[in-house]
Amino acid sequence: MRFSYLETSHITERDAARAGRELSGYLEHLRLASADASYGSSESCVHLPSDETLRAEVSRLAKEKSSRTLREVMVVGIGGSNLGTRAVYDALKPSGIPLSFFDTAHVRLLKEACSRMRAIYREKGEVFMNVISKSGTTSETMMNARVLIDCLKSLTKDWRGSIVVTTEPQSLLDHWARAQGVPSLPNPANVGGRWSVFSAVGLFPLVLAGVDIKKLHKGAVRASRRCLSDDVEHNAALQSAVAIHHAMKKGAVMHNLFVFDADLEWAGKWCRQLVGESLGKERDVHGRIVHAGVTPLVTIGSTDLHSVFQLLLGGPEDKFTTFVRVRSKGDVSIPRVDEQFDAIVPELNKKSVTEVMDAIYAGTVQSFKDRNLPFVEVEIARLDEESIAEFLQFKMVETMLLARLMHVNAFDQPNVEEYKKITRELLSG
Ligand code: PA5
Repeated sequence: MRFSYLETSHITERDAARAGRELSGYLEHLRLASADASYGSSESCVHLPSDETLRAEVSRLAKEKSSRTLREVMVVGIGGSNLGTRAVYDALKPSGIPLSFFDTAHVRLLKEACSRMRAIYREKGEVFMNVISKSGTTSETMMNARVLIDCLKSLTKDWRGSIVVTTEPQSLLDHWARAQGVPSLPNPANVGGRWSVFSAVGLFPLVLAGVDIKKLHKGAVRASRRCLSDDVEHNAALQSAVAIHHAMKKGAVMHNLFVFDADLEWAGKWCRQLVGESLGKERDVHGRIVHAGVTPLVTIGSTDLHSVFQLLLGGPEDKFTTFVRVRSKGDVSIPRVDEQFDAIVPELNKKSVTEVMDAIYAGTVQSFKDRNLPFVEVEIARLDEESIAEFLQFKMVETMLLARLMHVNAFDQPNVEEYKKITRELLSG
């Protein structure tokens, strides 16, 4: 992953060095957390990529549950219990068993899933279900699981063999799974949803989908090596956090992740949750009311150049942008149709799709430069397991460092818990 910033982010090497000194104690803490197999701190997610025991457990269970008749894996979870998996799945488009996602309360989706299940079982196929909830009590997830399990029960006597639960040990969901003899994979207490993509939460469905989870972890370890380092000059997460924080202080209270590859749209949505839920806080770490936060946006190039780009360029100067592009994705040369057609946009003649996209990207970045708008650029070599994991891990560390600079707790979500509680109270009448 290539990261560039200095010239365009409005910070100087001296700013970065100062922040490096401010954050050096925290970086040391993160390095210790990454080596701590007991998952003892709030930052425990940084240990996940080197947890070989976890990877072995996930792989063993996936092997046991895979069969030639498996047609679909239903991922039942919401927020952090689903978005990381979806980000990786959508970026890599793996060729294993297809995943479907249940992350909202939606009648049509449930009805369609049940008729799909009936059709699959009629044709002697099977469906597998992974119910994922750290708390084990999220209403949407428990509701979707009830509808889908009920359907599964009507189709096979061995419905228990077609479910794996992923939850915090000792949650009510974990108790249910144990009572039923359904395998339960752990979501460690100190790894919250949005930080859990490299835990069993993401690994189990992804390995069934055909993703190489060892390579996934390898990419994340590579990002950690770079992003937990004291070497400011090479620490992309530190540089990026400092640039965003610097821009915030000058009024850029929104952060736009501008991905120039539609396959990264769900990675963008994952980032949106990470930034929104980790940094949007009513109180700071000292308990003072601050209403802090960076409002995350996701835009897709080139589609959104014809949608919100006018606003991004001409509107309020309240945004910081991270451009993300993928270097190599294969190519298609632009064919000729006939003389008249080819004369409509003659600049396309003898060009390829990548050449056109590169020109669009360069033009977009240039217009930001011309207006002196703050941004950083991230270049991903190719969309494979290692690179996507490297990017996600970079974003997680960047968010932790940014929270530290903003003096907010990146790991709680009191207002989300508040809505969950009110929903249950309303349902109980
Ligand atoms: O990141 C988070 O903590 C949240 O988005 C949770 O993942 C989400 O609310 C779902 O919670 P749970 O996994 O407990 O069902």
